[in-house]
Amino acid sequence: MPIPQVLQEKRYAASTTIRRSTALLGTGLEGAREGILAMLAFGADGGADGETAIRFVHNPAFDQEQYSISSGVGGVSVEAGSETAAVWAAATVSQLCFENEGRLPYCFVEDAPRFGWRGLLIDVCRHFFPMETLYRLVDLLAYYKYNRLHLHLSDDQGFRFESERFPLLSRVGSRRTSTQIRRSGTAVQDKLPHGGYYTKHELRALVAYAKARGVEIVPELDMPGHALSILAAYPALGCFDEPFEVETTFGVSDFSRKLLCAGKEETFEFVSSLLEELLEVFPFPYIHIGGDEAVKDNWKRCPCCQRVIHEQGLKDERELEGYFLNRVSRFLRERGRKAIVWNDGLCANLDKDIITQFWTPFYMEGAGRTARRVNAGSAAVMSPFLRVYYDYPYAMTPLKKTYGFEPVLRGIRTRARQRVLGVESAIWTEWIDSEEKLFFNTLPRLAATAETGWTNPKQKRYRDFLRRLQPHYALYDRLKLPYAGNVERTLPLGKRIRGIRTFLRTDTHAELGNTRQEGGTAGKERIKPEV
Ligand code: ACM
Ligand code: ZN
Repeated sequence: MPIPQVLQEKRYAASTTIRRSTALLGTGLEGAREGILAMLAFGADGGADGETAIRFVHNPAFDQEQYSISSGVGGVSVEAGSETAAVWAAATVSQLCFENEGRLPYCFVEDAPRFGWRGLLIDVCRHFFPMETLYRLVDLLAYYKYNRLHLHLSDDQGFRFESERFPLLSRVGSRRTSTQIRRSGTAVQDKLPHGGYYTKHELRALVAYAKARGVEIVPELDMPGHALSILAAYPALGCFDEPFEVETTFGVSDFSRKLLCAGKEETFEFVSSLLEELLEVFPFPYIHIGGDEAVKDNWKRCPCCQRVIHEQGLKDERELEGYFLNRVSRFLRERGRKAIVWNDGLCANLDKDIITQFWTPFYMEGAGRTARRVNAGSAAVMSPFLRVYYDYPYAMTPLKKTYGFEPVLRGIRTRARQRVLGVESAIWTEWIDSEEKLFFNTLPRLAATAETGWTNPKQKRYRDFLRRLQPHYALYDRLKLPYAGNVERTLPLGKRIRGIRTFLRTDTHAELGNTRQEGGTAGKERIKPEV
């Protein structure tokens, strides 16, 4: 059985080989060709093509992401609810072949995901990653039948989206002079320049590549906090005339009080204008506008911000953040888009149609607030940091803990459950500075969370997942992707505590030696089918 495990599968002794170079596509599925061929080629060693071409038929009675596969003496046929579902079927075929020495068993498979939102966030601000890395991530997402890539494009440490209207965002905001590292016992600066941004042309190509593989891109511009890279470029958008520099350290600190000013109209003019550019590049309706970790000290002292609190009858600076996020969300709504904010931006006056992304179980009562908001009619995506933040060491977040995550939080009522859109994992990159570390922290966690997105929790079994995971290590080897190969067993508590302490105090890369792949260098190949 593949990962994520399928709803239903019957297998027989006989098998066939699949023609990877062609797919016979019925009406309504023509746009799926690139994604299907990419999935059929994924992990194949490029040897001779197989004998059986798969027939794909659109079944309008199926849900959007539902599919079935029948393989037998009459050939191999797929029924799919949409082009995306056809790509998922091809991914499943590819996995079944990979498990069976390149042959597809005669079988019947029926499948549909539990949640419609299955995402991965990558932070390209703390460390910039080239487009090639993003393409590789998209390939993996499609293979595990994820349908969202969340691109965190702006933060204190760098701005990564090319703006023609605001060129200083790339000229100034995309660069920093140095970076904090923790490798030898203390936090020091590497004193090396870091930078980079994506052009609109590059991003449009990524959007098309991902879309062909069933993956929609959700861009994020973080505001009103985590905005130092914007303020370094356009300091007039801050509350006070003070120095702003693209930040070289991490965390929530003194610099975190430097927010975009909520009392100046020019802030909203800037944000609207920048978002107009963003919307031209990213067609998916969902846009993330941040809202996390905005320390309000400057807002408390700023006459412009205080005037708005007074004029709008707001209770405090928390509600001022609600006012800020509502204005941006309403701008997006008028253009047919939907805003998402991190759960620390929740407050009494926040518009109900804003989607919550839950990440803090305890801080500011994150889980309770999120559950109440979902019960009251809002939608949410679930990303608790203790379960699905892949940047944490395995000592802190063992694979089993990630696998066991249940997105329907306690406190969410039965009739509100359909507003839990799904699950999104995150790779924040403060301490992830290479593809090697990126994939080591992500694999095999990505496979574990795929199952949370697809599988009924009553059917999830960690041991069974581990059994099905084994062929995937060989796949990662073939693709030359680093991965954590011996994290299946959760370490005893004492060792975990030592591992966490090492990560927090002395060495953020200590676990990296823990890989099955000799040398552990990142892959150079990307699977690109002939289309
Ligand atoms: C977050 O991790 N600051 C959303
Ligand atoms: Zn202000």
